[in-house]
Amino acid sequence: MARLLLGVSGGIAAYKALEVVRLATAEGHSVRVIQTRNAQRFVGAASFAALSGAPVLTDEFERDPLRGAFPGDPLPDHDPAAHLGLTAAAEVFLIAPASANTIAKLAHGHADNLLATAALGAACPLIVAPAMNDRMWANAATQDNIALLRERGIEVLTPGTGRLATVGEWGPGRLPEPAELLAAVDARLAGGRWSGTRTLVTAGGTREPIDAVRYLGNRSSGRMGFALAAAAAARGSEVVVVAANVSLPHAPGIRYVNVSTAAELAGACEAEFGAADVLLMCAAVADFRPVAAVAGKIAKGQAQTLKLEATEDVLSALAARRREGQTVVGFAAEHGPGGVERARGKLAVKGLDAIVCNDVSEPGIGFDAERNAVTIITPDGERQVGPAPKRAIAEAVLDAVDELRG
Ligand code: CTP
Repeated sequence: MARLLLGVSGGIAAYKALEVVRLATAEGHSVRVIQTRNAQRFVGAASFAALSGAPVLTDEFERDPLRGAFPGDPLPDHDPAAHLGLTAAAEVFLIAPASANTIAKLAHGHADNLLATAALGAACPLIVAPAMNDRMWANAATQDNIALLRERGIEVLTPGTGRLATVGEWGPGRLPEPAELLAAVDARLAGGRWSGTRTLVTAGGTREPIDAVRYLGNRSSGRMGFALAAAAAARGSEVVVVAANVSLPHAPGIRYVNVSTAAELAGACEAEFGAADVLLMCAAVADFRPVAAVAGKIAKGQAQTLKLEATEDVLSALAARRREGQTVVGFAAEHGPGGVERARGKLAVKGLDAIVCNDVSEPGIGFDAERNAVTIITPDGERQVGPAPKRAIAEAVLDAVDELRG
């Protein structure tokens, strides 16, 4: 988790920057915000202060009450100038929205407000997210300024095309959505830590047909698996998700293989596992299936006893044939006391490097919820994480994989 400095300049898209702070803090980043004077005409500093949990700075001559520290950091003894203190501690500096005026200042080295001064003194990576009217965007001055910034190695995001702030206007100039902005920050922060690796994630829950309309299924939504996939992609890994009946949106840059039954999931994993460096087996796979699905629909009067047969244990089979260098992580949704011990048993029996255990009897976490609380179990120890948003849990799981892979 990182220190994110967010610069907000004047533009209607400043409201989206609030959501960036909300998402970034939910992911565990600590955030400080600098606003220009004009930015405050669109969104007040109180909103950014409340969401970031830290004072917002707007003026070069104002002292920073936190002396350049980020939330969670100790207060330094010395009291640096605000623009130097904040940028010294920041790991990434995102300017969103970056107005045409701010972009011009950045391109030409102006330092006439706190945001521009901080950008000039920043040693950390700078990401610029322009947002403006399409005619201002198309203006040669703006385009030249952006080219100049890119030539200098500054990452300038391409604005979206669509409905603009002025009624009836349409074109390029929209600020990318907050989740996309955060993905750009995460990718930059990851610095390619996982680049060159391939990650296979399974997500969701399998369905075993009883007849043409009914199935045996489970309550897994795929949220945890998709959060793991997004986190691995943000670290630079090439990610493929085998998704069993997941209706969540697909993220750009990730490959998805949709499956329904345990047998289909086994087949897809069989095909993908050989190329993977890391397997995160998050899907809830059925342990039993009806011996034979009835063709057509079973009518009410035909009530019958279901005959079930065991499915293959996909994870055990994959772990048994893994090659050196592959890291295999299982997930165990346990119900009630003794769950961690049962999960530790599965770690040994299935031959895993780690298993992530959560207690699905706890209300509000786990199945089909935004948050989770887990114990990450490795042969040498265990670590509790959460309750926290699933993305934060995903980051902790990936950190554990990092440790296992040395
Ligand atoms: N798993 C699998 N194939 C199955 C069942 C489970 O690959 N047929 C995987 C899950 O994806 C998970 C791990 O095994 O990563 C543990 O799943 P879990 O259901 O907790 O364990 P089971 O072995 O099915 O044991 P039980 O249901 O009896 O607790």
